[in-house]
Parts: sequence; C-alpha cells; structure tokens
Amino acid sequence: MPEPVIRLRSAEVSFGPRTLWKDLDLDISEGEFIAVLGPNGAGKSTFLKVLLGLQRLTAGRAEILGRPVSRGSSRVGYIPQQHALPPETPLRARDLVALGIEGHRFGIPFRSARTRAVVQDLLERVGASRYADQPVGVLSGGEQQRLRAAQALAGSPAALLCDEPLHSLDLHHQRAIADLIKDQASEHGSAVVFVTHEINPVIEHVDRVLYFARGQYRIGSVEDVMRTEVLSELYDSPVEVIRHKGRLLVMGDHIEAGHEHDASTGHGLPYGVGEMAR
Ligand SMILES: Nc1ncnc2c1ncn2[C@@H]1O[C@H](COP(=O)(O)OP(=O)(O)OP(=O)(O)O)[C@@H](O)[C@H]1O
Ligand SMILES: [Mg+2]
Repeated sequence: MPEPVIRLRSAEVSFGPRTLWKDLDLDISEGEFIAVLGPNGAGKSTFLKVLLGLQRLTAGRAEILGRPVSRGSSRVGYIPQQHALPPETPLRARDLVALGIEGHRFGIPFRSARTRAVVQDLLERVGASRYADQPVGVLSGGEQQRLRAAQALAGSPAALLCDEPLHSLDLHHQRAIADLIKDQASEHGSAVVFVTHEINPVIEHVDRVLYFARGQYRIGSVEDVMRTEVLSELYDSPVEVIRHKGRLLVMGDHIEAGHEHDASTGHGLPYGVGEMAR
C-alpha cells in the first residue's frame, strides 16, 4: 500500500472540558475525495485547521505525506470558510490566484510565462476571466469564492482542504467548482477533504463521508454512513434518511436546527430539501 497523503492516529481536539472529537483514526489516500459533514460547531473547520498545522491536537498525531503537519506547507491547498475580503484589498483577481503558486510574497516584479499561463487557465476554469483584472475587494461573495478555489488549486497540492467551498455559489458554479475539485483528485491525485453542509451537490464525487456530531464521528461510504440507523445513533435522536432519485434527504430535529444556518441551501428547510426543490 502506498503511504497515505493524510494520516491521523488517536487524534483528539478538546477545548477545556469540551471534546470536539477524539480517537480519530483515518488514512486518506492519493486521489480520495472525503466529504466532512456535521452540525455547526461539530469541529469540521477545526479538523482542517489541524491538517493545516494551525490547531494543535490535544492527543494523538496528524501527518501529511509521512511528516507531522506543519504550517505553510506548499503541499497543502486550502479554500477557507467564506469571509468577504476588505474592499480596499490591493490585489487584482489574477494576483490572488497567482499567490497560490508564488506564496504570499508581495511586490514580485516578474511573473514567469508558465505561472501566467497556469493562472489564466484556472481563471477560465472557475469562470473568472471576465473579472480577472478587477480589484478583488469589489467582487461579489461568490466571485471571490471562485478565486479562492482557483488559488488553492494553483499549487497542485497533495492535500486539498476545502471549507464549504460551494457556499454562496449559484448552482451552475457549484457544479463547476465541485467538478474542478474532483478533477484535481482524479487527475492530479490530490487527497481532497471537502467540508460541506450539503452532500447532494458532490454526492457522485464522494468516496467516503466523515460525519462529526456530539463529540463522535462515523467514517465510511455514503451508503454506510448516510443511513437512518447510523445518524440516529450519532445524534442520539431520531433522524430519517430518504433517498430520492440519487439524492439524499436527511431529516431530524437536530438537523433542522443544526444544518440550515447556511444561506445557500434554503432557510429552515430540512437538510437536503433546499437542494431538491431547485
Ligand atoms: N481556539 C478555540 N478555543 C475555544 N473554542 C474553540 C476554538 N476554536 C474553535 N472552538 C470551538 O470549537 C467548536 C467547533 O468549531 P468549528 O469551527 O470547527 O466548527 P464547524 O464544525 O466548522 O462549524 P460550522 O458548521 O459552523 O462552520 C466551536 O464551538 C468553536 O467555538
Ligand atoms: Mg466551519
């Protein structure tokens, strides 16, 4: 077996008396696409921060390519959970993407022809060529989000960590970005960790689901994890999973309360309904 890209052993993160998750054993291989699900506050973003070397484990270990995780690794790409860039950010859209290759060294006078070509290709693939030369701060949330995806892909990372990358994208761009990330896994072998509140837009791409809730987790195929019995046990309350035309509808009191703060998926509807209604 080749060495996994990402390896966690007995990993735990606690803040004071509160354990987000523990006893996490997980190997993620080259080219694998893992969806990370769970209610608000379950520890999904924290899981990515551990892999980025930004959050220390309380116990256990986390490795990327056989080495302990470390900050600023060029082998790791990251699409952060969405936040708006300040309007005065002194970068054009294409500069933001180029940073994914050059790193955060400002004031570079010269950009190689190869870098420029890679950046141009990515701008086209995320549908951002039209605004490539505009200042990033004036772009819409979804336009900025597409640039973040392009930036994370620019360095062709071994591990690609995505925190709700489809948030605030319209359906057309959800599909485009989801496909782009999947291609990064299947064609370039990146191990993809994809945090999302909505599995349906990526359901055909997902190899395994990592589901966090109440300090516990489940890992397995979509069929293994996204089941009435498994999620009811994980939430310790009744959850119903219904399959409809290849899509999943997950319903339960906690899920309604927990999942649907996400403006992109339909306010107050059970998980999945927003997606199905479109
Ligand atoms: N440094 C910290 N100190 C104390 N608590 C923290 C710290 N970092 C995160 N937390 C808490 O850990 C919990 C998990 O946060 P995290 O951002 O991982 O959740 P999430 O699953 O990504 O949720 P969401 O769906 O809302 O993005 C939150 O309740 C958060 O307040
Ligand atoms: Mg989060």
